[in-house]
Amino acid sequence: MKKDGKVVSFINMKGGVGKTTLCIGIGEYLAHYLNKRVLFIDLDPQFNTTQSLMNLFELEDEYMTNYSVKNKTVRRLFESPTTVSEMPKLPEKEDVIIDLDYNISIIAGTINLIFDDNNKSTSASRRVKKFIEENALRNEYDYIFIDCPPTISLYTDSALIASDYYLVPVKVDRYSILGIKLLDQVIERLKFDETLNIKPLGIVYTMLDNTITQKTKKIMETLESSEIVNKIGLFETKTFFVRDLMVGLGGNIASRYNSSRIDIEALCSEFMKEVEKNE
Ligand SMILES: Nc1ncnc2c1ncn2[C@@H]1O[C@H](COP(=O)(O)OP(=O)(O)OP(=O)(O)O)[C@@H](O)[C@H]1O
Ligand SMILES: [Mg+2]
Repeated sequence: MKKDGKVVSFINMKGGVGKTTLCIGIGEYLAHYLNKRVLFIDLDPQFNTTQSLMNLFELEDEYMTNYSVKNKTVRRLFESPTTVSEMPKLPEKEDVIIDLDYNISIIAGTINLIFDDNNKSTSASRRVKKFIEENALRNEYDYIFIDCPPTISLYTDSALIASDYYLVPVKVDRYSILGIKLLDQVIERLKFDETLNIKPLGIVYTMLDNTITQKTKKIMETLESSEIVNKIGLFETKTFFVRDLMVGLGGNIASRYNSSRIDIEALCSEFMKEVEKNE
């Protein structure tokens, strides 16, 4: 049966807020517990999503000796012709999509993305969208999750242009509002040149302490009363700091540990309801 997949960017202009961990945590849970088909696209030159999933599927060597060397990576989407007479061409699906199991696929990231960020061709930022559309990927996957870098770059533009929704992981600290404001500016600026169809799904608190102190509460209240947070919305589900996500033998996969599984289960349920509500 044809699917009606949704493209979702995990994005914040602030680093280290849990974008990658939530992207993988939600995607893996949807795939392995709720039987959804999920395609990850790793648009971050740090390629943490790729490393983590290669680790989960014991494909780290394969990544180094095969996918990376043969450039079976997202970088293929950004290739430009090297002669004037050559037409720009998108890769075939098989050239870039790696099926990890029946429900999880990935377009792997690569550190080499750093070399393309200065690609100034205006079409470059539309390549991800074009690739998804030309290959009718929404018919094959329930969700296409894009892990974004925390920077203003060709890749964040590409992700936003390609997405139906964006989700903003936020770690509560005194600078948390800045990354959200900056993200909003990036989206507004992009709207000037591009047709964007992207809608906010909401902000998700990440790495909260189990006991939320008065000081933390105060920052949360300030955040929640800001115009920008009201515009984007806020998930009811909060996610907590679980040390194993950093150091555990199960890697940074939320479903692997009891306490993060509870968070991710609740979050997936709210996430799917939010998407449904917007359709
Ligand atoms: N709920 C959590 N509990 C404990 N540690 C977490 C949790 N979520 C994320 N972390 C850890 O915090 C760090 C940053 O998380 P993550 O890499 O997901 O953030 P990011 O926003 O993707 O960062 P970047 O901007 O560098 O891409 C990582 O070391 C990760 O393991
Ligand atoms: Mg990341």
